[in-house]
Amino acid sequence: MQIWSRRATAISGLALALAACATVDQASTIPDTYFVREGMVDQINPPITAIWDMQVEVMDDEGNFDPALMTADTWAALKSHAANLDIQAAKMAGAERFVAADPNGELTEAPEGTDLAAIQQRLDTSPQAFRAMATAMRAQTAQLLLAAQAQDAARVTQLVNDLQPSCKSCHDVFWYPEQG
Ligand code: HEC
Repeated sequence: MQIWSRRATAISGLALALAACATVDQASTIPDTYFVREGMVDQINPPITAIWDMQVEVMDDEGNFDPALMTADTWAALKSHAANLDIQAAKMAGAERFVAADPNGELTEAPEGTDLAAIQQRLDTSPQAFRAMATAMRAQTAQLLLAAQAQDAARVTQLVNDLQPSCKSCHDVFWYPEQG
């Protein structure tokens, strides 16, 4: 049911620690208050879904990005999705406060199984843990952008595969721990 998990879980071998990430040059766009639900639905999910869809189009038999199938256009698309994802991850990682959903937004009707009040309670109890996981994911997206810019297909594959466990580890703690 979670769209993000339709993809087979990848084995993560990458130490999150590797990422001494680039400074955020979009500092001015980082919001004080981050609305998690809006961020997920409108900002984080679209570019990573586009990348996962691309991976299916241009993968070899092992599911790796196949450089032989990549063209100038697909590299450009990948770079643009990776850049967008990195900006969106930086916004989440850099925010001061985390709010489960924008009370004035259109996404306050959460799907069944999503308890926004419980999520808010967890965000209020452990904002540092949330920020730490967001920061770890942001480190990966920064690396992914570099790998896309370098047109390093093997590294792109590794980083894309390593991202999904980062989504899951935060979801396991903040979204639906009761189901874990
Ligand atoms: C730092 C924590 C964190 C990280 C990292 C994270 N998420 Fe989320 N995500 C949440 C929380 C909390 C929710 C539940 C809030 C909500 O959407 O109602 C959520 C919900 C979602 C939803 C559901 C929205 C809906 O329709 O209900 C999607 C889709 C999603 N995340 C995708 C992703 C993807 C893809 C990644 C990784 C690339 C990711 N998330 C990484 C915290 C995180």
